[in-house]
Amino acid sequence: MTTTAHAPLALAPLAIAGGQPVRAKPLPAAYLGTSVMGDEELALLTEVVRNKLPFREYGDGTPHMVKDFEREAAGYFGVAHALATATGSGSFYCAMAGLGVGPGDEVIIPAWGWHTDFLAPVLLGATPVFADIDGGFNLDPADFERKITPRTKAVVMIHYQGAAGDLARVLEIAKKHNLKVVEDVAQAAGGSYRGQKLGSWGDVACFSFQQNKILSTGDGGLFLAKDPLIFERAVRFHDLGFLRPSLAAQIGGQPLTQAFAGAQFRMNEFTGAVALAQLRKLDRAIVHPVQRLYQQLKRDVLADCPGIALRPTGDEEGNAGIAFYMDMGTADLAAWFNKALAAEGIRVGPSSGCTNLLHTDLVKSKRQAHPKLAPFGPGCPGEHVHYGPELCPNVDRVASRLTCVALCPAMSADDVRDVTAAIAKVWNQRPAEHRK
Ligand SMILES: Cc1ncc(COP(=O)(O)O)c(C=O)c1O
Repeated sequence: MTTTAHAPLALAPLAIAGGQPVRAKPLPAAYLGTSVMGDEELALLTEVVRNKLPFREYGDGTPHMVKDFEREAAGYFGVAHALATATGSGSFYCAMAGLGVGPGDEVIIPAWGWHTDFLAPVLLGATPVFADIDGGFNLDPADFERKITPRTKAVVMIHYQGAAGDLARVLEIAKKHNLKVVEDVAQAAGGSYRGQKLGSWGDVACFSFQQNKILSTGDGGLFLAKDPLIFERAVRFHDLGFLRPSLAAQIGGQPLTQAFAGAQFRMNEFTGAVALAQLRKLDRAIVHPVQRLYQQLKRDVLADCPGIALRPTGDEEGNAGIAFYMDMGTADLAAWFNKALAAEGIRVGPSSGCTNLLHTDLVKSKRQAHPKLAPFGPGCPGEHVHYGPELCPNVDRVASRLTCVALCPAMSADDVRDVTAAIAKVWNQRPAEHRK
C-alpha cells in the first residue's frame, strides 16, 4: 500500500457496523526492548554462565557486566554517576534516600502516574503531594508551583510514554524554590528534550527495565545522579548501607559519608548482561526505528484526518515515539473511536499502566502498607494533606479523551500504513454529533 492507497477505504463501511476490518492479521505485540532480544543478549549471557560469575562484585574471576552497563549508561545519558538496580521501583527508593527525603518532607508527584512514584516517598516516611497534568499527561508546571509548601523537598516529573512535557518550566520553578528534580524516565529511555537525553536534566533520574519498557531486562532499573554525595547515599541505600569497590570507584574510591540502614536492590550479572546488550542497540534497534514509524504515522494521519488533534508534548523531535496519542476532544467521541478502531483490527491503548493515582485504594485510604501504621509520613501526620480527585481535575478529563495506538520495533511501515488507514476510516466517518 502507498500512503494514498488507503484513501478509498475512508468510505468503506466501518467494521463496527458490519464492514470489512482494515486489518485481518493482528499487529505485532507492542513490546519494545523485549522484541529485539537476540544474539547480542545471548552472547553476553553465555559469558556470565560460562564464567560462573553471576554476582556483580566478586567470584572466581572478574565480573564486569553491571559495571560496564553503568559506565556505558553514564556515557549514553551524559550524567556523571550511574547505579544499576534490581527494579525500576528500587531506583526510586534509592533516589529518595539519595536526596535525603524523609519524615517531614513533601514530594510533589503528578496524579497521572505509576504506583512507585507515590510509594517511594511514602516508604521513606515522606508525604506525596499530587499535582495536576497538562493536556498531554505530563506534569502541569503551574499546578506544580501551586502545590509547593515550605515542606516541599523534591518534585517527580514523569516523561509519560516517550515524551517530556514542559521540562524547561518545571526546572525553572524547581530552581526558584530550591527543590530537587527527579526525572522518571521509566517510559522514555532514549527520548530527548531540546537535543539532550531525558534523564540528564534533573538532579537525579530513575529508569525501569520491566517487560513493557523501551530497554528491557524483564525487571531492572537505573539511577543517575550528578552529585557524588547523592549518588553515594543512593548506592548505600541499594546495598544494605555498603559502598563496595566497583561503585566507590565512581566517586574516586573514598567514601563521602557513613553507612546507614539500606535495603537490597542490587542488579545481578545476568540482568546486567541483557541491560548492556540492550543499551548498545537502544538507538539503532529500538528508538530510531520507532521514531521513524511515529513520524510516518503522524504525517499521514494529519494529512488524512482533517481536524484531528494530537497529544501535545514539550518536544516532538525528542519524542521516543512509542505511543501515538490522539485527542478526541470529548470522552464520548473517544469511547466510540476506541471501539470503532479496535473493530478495524487495530490494538488500542498504550504500553503503560499509569493511572489516576488519586483513585487508587491506597491513596484513598491514606494509610501506609501496614494497617497499624499511621497515615503517610510519620513526621507529618498527613492530616494536612487532602487527597481527592477534585485536586487534579485535568487527569480524568485528559484520560477520558486521549486515545492511543502503541508503536514498537516489530512493526513495519506497512503495518503503520494500516494503522493510518484505520484511523482515517474511523475518524472520517465519526458520527455527525461529533463533528464541529
Ligand atoms: C512511570 C513509571 N515509573 C516507575 C515504574 C517502576 O518500575 P518497575 O516496575 O521496574 O519497578 C514504572 C513501571 O511500570 C513506570 O511506568
